[in-house]
Amino acid sequence: MSTNDSLQTRDALAVVHGLTNLSAHAQRGASVMQSGKGVWVQDIHGRDYIEAMSGLWCIALGYGNERLADVAHRQMMELAYYPLTNHKSHPRVIELAEKLLSMAPVPMSRIWFASTGSEAIDCAARLSWYFWNALGQPEKKKFISHQLAYHGNTIASASLSGVSYAHEKFNLPLPGFLHVSTPHFSRHAHPGETEDNYSDRLIADIEKLIHKEGAHTIAAFFVEPVMAAGGIVIPPARYYEQLQILLKKHDILLVCDEVVTAFGRTGKMFGSTTMQLQPDLLVCAKALSSAYIPISALMICSRVYEAIERQSGELGLFGLTMTYSGHPVASAVALETLKIYDELHIVDHVQQVGPSLVSGLMNLRSHSLVKEVRGIGLLAGVELAPNYGAKCARIAEEEGLIVRAIGDTIAFCPPMIISELEVRELLKRFTNALNRL
Ligand SMILES: Cc1ncc(COP(=O)(O)O)c(C=O)c1O
Repeated sequence: MSTNDSLQTRDALAVVHGLTNLSAHAQRGASVMQSGKGVWVQDIHGRDYIEAMSGLWCIALGYGNERLADVAHRQMMELAYYPLTNHKSHPRVIELAEKLLSMAPVPMSRIWFASTGSEAIDCAARLSWYFWNALGQPEKKKFISHQLAYHGNTIASASLSGVSYAHEKFNLPLPGFLHVSTPHFSRHAHPGETEDNYSDRLIADIEKLIHKEGAHTIAAFFVEPVMAAGGIVIPPARYYEQLQILLKKHDILLVCDEVVTAFGRTGKMFGSTTMQLQPDLLVCAKALSSAYIPISALMICSRVYEAIERQSGELGLFGLTMTYSGHPVASAVALETLKIYDELHIVDHVQQVGPSLVSGLMNLRSHSLVKEVRGIGLLAGVELAPNYGAKCARIAEEEGLIVRAIGDTIAFCPPMIISELEVRELLKRFTNALNRL
């Protein structure tokens, strides 16, 4: 047995994998990746792949970025760790918070830091409760989100997620987490319904739910501007406009989960701008550090922050704390990442190459197995005929292309630094995979 083969076996005997059939894994073993450069990764057998999913929607600057490695090294040597508790701080977290506030898609007041998207979503839920308690409305406790939404996998964020795999046998969702219909026109519209009529119907259903539960019991509505792990779902133009009117009318907070969409992915710096959302709370992660180190951020508007500040003054303490909140090394890497996005004019770049990816995939609509192609910026999904998704992803991997099958939708979310030439190579490999299906 070669060292490389034994790595596959050792993995199966030692590591637990998420979103994986664990029984099948014990038989099949892992695809073990060894190194990466730009949009490319190489496995332990020396085979090259285009990482068309940025890992898990995250390695936005691609692999092997020396500046990010250098800045982490420098920060580790200067001040490897410092907490933010008991009035303590450090320069990098201050600079990062200021930078994020200057970039925010709507005016925001403060930034809370955590390590993962799930944690920051969890904090958004907890801050919503804290906020309504501060306003003397403790009954405002329930949350609404979409079926098929993915908001993470801690207990609260998994409850917000609308996917059965995060709930089944895990005793979730918790009570008070409500899910409404996925805003996916082509899949769920009634025959003859226009996009506007469809949107009106969904909004009317949400209003019925709000009346049934009582607006005085609902704390916040969580949305992903574009639903990523739900299969690249781009809600109809009118949907969010009407939803926001409804939420304002019933005084329900809007939380935008921009864990995937922030920092250029949809062709604007924030998905909230692309989809014209005005959140009270906004969560970002993943591309915040281009996945070089875990860090997430929760942006808090002034109405919410002022209430939080006042209440913590009355209580004598703001009781939320996490050891790695605003970690100096993660903050330094995130700051450098944002600087690189500025220097690369990343939004302009996505606006340039995104259409090549999306239109290239659109050209495949004539293929007999392709049902629908959806895309925005550098985020796209190709929906295949039923039961072809997993097989297609497997064949694509044999063709040297890593994609993700979400049911029968093949998701694409390549590193945002992908070049036109690499987009063409990606399309070629995917077309080969489709033709082999
Ligand atoms: C939209 C969205 N929100 C939240 C999360 C959870 O982030 P994390 O896996 O960093 O906890 C994810 C992860 O994929 C996500 O796609």
